[in-house]
Amino acid sequence: MENFFLTQWYDWRVLEPSPKLVLINKILGKLGLYSRLQYPRSTGLMTNIEQRLNLYHLVSQVLAYNVPGALVELGCHNGQSSTVIQKIIQHFDPSREFHVYDSFEGLPALHEKDAGTTNFDVGQLKTTRDALLANFKKVGLPPPTIHEGWFDKTLPTQLPPSISFAYLDGDFYESILISLQYTYPRLSKGAICLIDDYADPAVYPAGWNLLPGVKRACDEFLADKPEKVSYIYSADMSHGFFRKL
Ligand SMILES: C[S@@+](CC[C@H](N)C(=O)[O-])C[C@H]1O[C@@H](n2cnc3c(N)ncnc32)[C@H](O)[C@@H]1O
Repeated sequence: MENFFLTQWYDWRVLEPSPKLVLINKILGKLGLYSRLQYPRSTGLMTNIEQRLNLYHLVSQVLAYNVPGALVELGCHNGQSSTVIQKIIQHFDPSREFHVYDSFEGLPALHEKDAGTTNFDVGQLKTTRDALLANFKKVGLPPPTIHEGWFDKTLPTQLPPSISFAYLDGDFYESILISLQYTYPRLSKGAICLIDDYADPAVYPAGWNLLPGVKRACDEFLADKPEKVSYIYSADMSHGFFRKL
């Protein structure tokens, strides 16, 4: 499958940071702090090109190798990544179900384990189901099954019984933890779970790490499980994945 749509549908150019921003980030690093000021990029852009490439390879892999189950995205916002996932599904196996979940009311309250988060807050990233549907229409793809509501209300009863690919993008500690609690038991053997914003400074100290609650939730949840998250390169953003054993 050709994958040039990854560069065409959404802008992928990271804008040049000012020398002042570079200096501030250098100082934060020297002080031993993980927080960084974000590099400027097109407003509202959810992923960079490296993340979409990783997404492409991970989704196409589970479909090409016939890992059983539906695909899900927990925290779909206005569907930027959902359209990428749907495009790959339509190419490899259009019979697969694709379910997406979001409050569409923006982010919930922060938990104390989100400490270190600098520029995200409750209510941020508010969008609508219609905005998501419009993005699917724009690129000529069938919409996914949309589950609107907070994860603690939708996930217990509205997840498919078997999952081949889960994209967890709820940003905060509690959102990621509940996502893992409900998706993990449904993941088929060989399924991929990709977690956005997972950063591990021990692996790559320069990685984007403004949502440290994500790693805390994953590490706590997987502490007694055989799977561990691999932090994979995505330039100025961060994400990681594990494969269900
Ligand atoms: C960063 S955005 C998702 C971006 C999208 N995955 C993409 O790449 O295009 C995070 C989304 O998670 C949703 N979210 C976070 N915690 C949630 C929760 N507990 N219940 C429902 N939605 C939640 C927010 O509403 C927001 O739209």
